[in-house]
Amino acid sequence: MSLHAVTGAFGYSGKYIARRLLDAGQQILTLTNSPQRSDRIRAFPFNFDKPDELTRSLEGVSVLYNTIINAIGPETFTYRGLVEKIGEIIGRRRMIVSVPPGLGYVASRVTK
Ligand SMILES: NC(=O)c1ccc[n+]([C@@H]2O[C@H](COP(=O)([O-])OP(=O)(O)OC[C@H]3O[C@@H](n4cnc5c(N)ncnc54)[C@H](OP(=O)(O)O)[C@@H]3O)[C@@H](O)[C@H]2O)c1
Repeated sequence: MSLHAVTGAFGYSGKYIARRLLDAGQQILTLTNSPQRSDRIRAFPFNFDKPDELTRSLEGVSVLYNTIINAIGPETFTYRGLVEKIGEIIGRRRMIVSVPPGLGYVASRVTK
């Protein structure tokens, strides 16, 4: 069993990812604007402006699922840029591989 972090697990896409992980017996936590809204899922604030606290929230996490395609705010990131930035903040750089959607789907079924 691994610990997975799903951003916005109370949102539309995130809730399905969270449900599948929980049904598969995995542990999950979420980053959210509503950390008080917690049931089966441990919830932490995004804390993008407090990297130490963000790092603490994500301690022990094996996989991060980011449900936001483009974050809108003072800075705008591409999806790849956002994933790279989170890796930089938490000090965990990972290889990011772009694949066609169909191949990504098949790969996710095989590695499930
Ligand atoms: N649903 C669709 O049909 C659809 C279609 C095309 C594209 N998209 C895109 O797919 C993404 C997810 O869509 P959705 O329908 O699941 O949206 P959603 O229901 O609005 O959920 C988005 C979630 O993202 C979380 N969030 C807020 N700020 C964030 C940040 N800076 N970084 C990471 N997560 C953040 C929110 O968490 P809290 O609410 O817990 O604070 C929210 O639960 C969006 O970028 C959307 O534009 C969706």
